[in-house]
Amino acid sequence: MSESTNIHLAADLSFLHTDYLWKSPGSWIGYPYYGSSEFYEDITRTAARGVMDMLFFGDTGGTPEDFGGSHEAAVKYGAKWPRHDMTPMIPIMSKVAEGVGFALTVSTTYHHPFHIARIFNALDHVTKGRVAWNAVTSAYKNEAANYGFDEMMDHDARYERAQESLEVVKALWNSVERDAPILDRESGIYLDPNKVHRIDHRGKHFNVRGPLPAMPSPQGEPVIIQAGLSGPGMDLAATYADLQFSTRRTIETMKQHRALLDNKLNEHKRSPRDIGILWSIRIQLAESETEAREQERRYLESIPPQAGLVEMSAQFNMDFSAAKPGMRLSDFVDLIREQKGNLGTFDELVKTVDPKQTLEEFGRRFMVDRILVAAGTPRQIVDKLEILHNEAGANGGFILGRGFSAMDNIRGFVEHVVPELQRRGLSKKKYAGPTLRENLNS
Ligand SMILES: Cc1cc2nc3c(=O)[nH]c(=O)nc-3n(C[C@H](O)[C@H](O)[C@H](O)COP(=O)(O)O)c2cc1C
Repeated sequence: MSESTNIHLAADLSFLHTDYLWKSPGSWIGYPYYGSSEFYEDITRTAARGVMDMLFFGDTGGTPEDFGGSHEAAVKYGAKWPRHDMTPMIPIMSKVAEGVGFALTVSTTYHHPFHIARIFNALDHVTKGRVAWNAVTSAYKNEAANYGFDEMMDHDARYERAQESLEVVKALWNSVERDAPILDRESGIYLDPNKVHRIDHRGKHFNVRGPLPAMPSPQGEPVIIQAGLSGPGMDLAATYADLQFSTRRTIETMKQHRALLDNKLNEHKRSPRDIGILWSIRIQLAESETEAREQERRYLESIPPQAGLVEMSAQFNMDFSAAKPGMRLSDFVDLIREQKGNLGTFDELVKTVDPKQTLEEFGRRFMVDRILVAAGTPRQIVDKLEILHNEAGANGGFILGRGFSAMDNIRGFVEHVVPELQRRGLSKKKYAGPTLRENLNS
């Protein structure tokens, strides 16, 4: 859903408290750490100044124990750990600024669709129509074990369950018609019972009677985001999503991705404008490209040499500490497939990373090279964003992945890059309306 050709702007807040950002110069200075809301309240105010559409929290309910076969490295360095449930943060954030929306990740593999429908309906009410659900199938072993699975469910089976979960959630959101509430004190009629429906869903994975015992929320259906890159992931997006996140790394793969999604949308009798894509990108603001490269060098020097492999191990359920010298990414294709994890993301790396690079070499670059990068002056950054956006069909925008300092990175983007985007007419200068749906369409 991005009827406009504007660049829509979001920021991924998932790892601002971990992944060595917690110790970067300037990070978290003056704020209580993580569990407290002040930092996130200020980010919300900053995002609203930049007329950004959305702030996003990813989630996995697990502790990575892939690298070296234990949680030691993840916990010692704070690599994708800890992960609090960020649900309570959203109502607090929504109180401090209008316009900006909030996306929360909840797994279709481990959470029941009745619970998901109910939580997002409630969040949509308290945020006055500014919430989105990032529907994920959860690709991590320790998380699976926390929810009682000795073995992680197969990749495609997770997506089959997700299809049914989304069908149920949508049916529940629509089980109370928008004009059902009457609330007429004189007649004493609360809702029109003819406009409240059971869904009577009986499926392979879920039986749900309905209706949702809740008033229709401001958006009716909170925005649905899907972020899988594999075939079944793209199918799920084409069936149900309003928005997709993508970690494609080159213009060529971005174009292929957009074309594939458009074809699938066509098969589902939907149009390309029904789904905008937010491409993950690291924005590195500096006085010059040379200075941006210097910042990158300083960051890489400040983190342990194996940091990238620790993160890759967590992302792909694979112990990369055991890799033999000289091995390359392509040597792991079959092994990664057996781990049932983030198949689409690994395929993208194999497709786009220099095939001559060894795992050790790429592991060092992973922390700075895993997603698209735009680095340099505001003008250079906007030049790059404009090219990427137009080449990929001008249908969505960008989600800021982690920069090198938490808060300053988003503040710098809003103060220096957004004005240049707005000056060129590439991003909007004010919010179109109170709800996230309206803003994603304008
Ligand atoms: C930008 C982006 C953000 C994601 N956020 C999460 C997340 O918060 N939690 C999660 O379990 N998976 C997350 N994923 C993983 C996907 O939703 C999906 O489960 C994973 O990529 C495996 O599916 P695939 O093989 O279709 O790519 C994210 C993926 C992308 C590209």
